[in-house]
Amino acid sequence: MAPAVPLALLALVALLAPGLGVAFPGCDYPVHLWCSSWEIAVACQAESRCANLSRPAAAPVELSLFYESLCPACRGFLVQELFTTWLLLPDEVLSITLVPYGNAEERNVSGKWHFQCQHGPEECLGNMIETCLMHEAKNFSTYFPVIFCLESGSSVTKNLEACLQVYAPQLDGGRIAACVQGDAGAALMHRNAQLTEALDPPHQYVPWIVINGKHTDELQAQAEASLLGLICRLYQGEKPSACGGSGAPKAPAGCRR
Ligand SMILES: *[C@@H]1O[C@H](CO)[C@@H](O)[C@H](O)[C@H]1NC(C)=O
Ligand SMILES: *[C@@H]1O[C@H](CO)[C@@H](O)[C@H](O)[C@H]1NC(C)=O
Ligand SMILES: *[C@@H]1O[C@H](CO)[C@@H](O)[C@H](O)[C@H]1NC(C)=O
Repeated sequence: MAPAVPLALLALVALLAPGLGVAFPGCDYPVHLWCSSWEIAVACQAESRCANLSRPAAAPVELSLFYESLCPACRGFLVQELFTTWLLLPDEVLSITLVPYGNAEERNVSGKWHFQCQHGPEECLGNMIETCLMHEAKNFSTYFPVIFCLESGSSVTKNLEACLQVYAPQLDGGRIAACVQGDAGAALMHRNAQLTEALDPPHQYVPWIVINGKHTDELQAQAEASLLGLICRLYQGEKPSACGGSGAPKAPAGCRR
């Protein structure tokens, strides 16, 4: 009956296991330490017993948009989906990276980068204005409304001063113009080219949407159909009110007399 003792011992261990802290794989901690950090509480499945620990904030959903300044579908997505969704969601929920380059091509001409764009030189200029604007402004909340203004207006390339006046009067249009015309702009655009060429899978069209580092036809279709709905579904934290949580406003009651 050699196995009897070990079996009995095993049964005993199984019974006492929660108390010994060996019940769950990855939970190598005695009970009195289960509430010492959120990670340990999760490993030991003790979150509900650790009232003094708060759930860490979930990571924002990260969206990268690879686009061209004059492509109509890019402008449509940026203006109607991306900007409106960004207005509704806090930065902790949605983090956006804009890469204006798309189907452009670059050539090294005697040590200088030259760019060719799908919709011609004006598109290259639009890409460059937006790239230099992002570089000068740094802060997404500062430059995204300006880019929205450029992309939603009659001309992407002629309205920088007007858009700055309305949305970011603290920015110096002269510095942006100098970047657009100088080596700094070319170096920044080369970086956009590298980011675009590094896409895996490679982009086949624009706008090309990457969410949490991933591009699939399905994610792309969902983003274009309802970006707000998609981000709300993907966000792991407590849903903000714009996602239709408890704080959401009631549906309008209509206009009956
Ligand atoms: C939470 O409370 C438990 C005791 O209930 C304690 O052992 C643990 O260290 C506390 N955790 C933190 C992070 O203060
Ligand atoms: C660009 O071309 C110049 C010569 O025309 C060369 O010295 C330089 O290494 C090239 N740069 C790259 C990144 O290919
Ligand atoms: C960006 O600008 C917003 C609004 O002006 C401000 O609340 C935020 O703190 C700024 N972020 C950084 C990193 O400067």
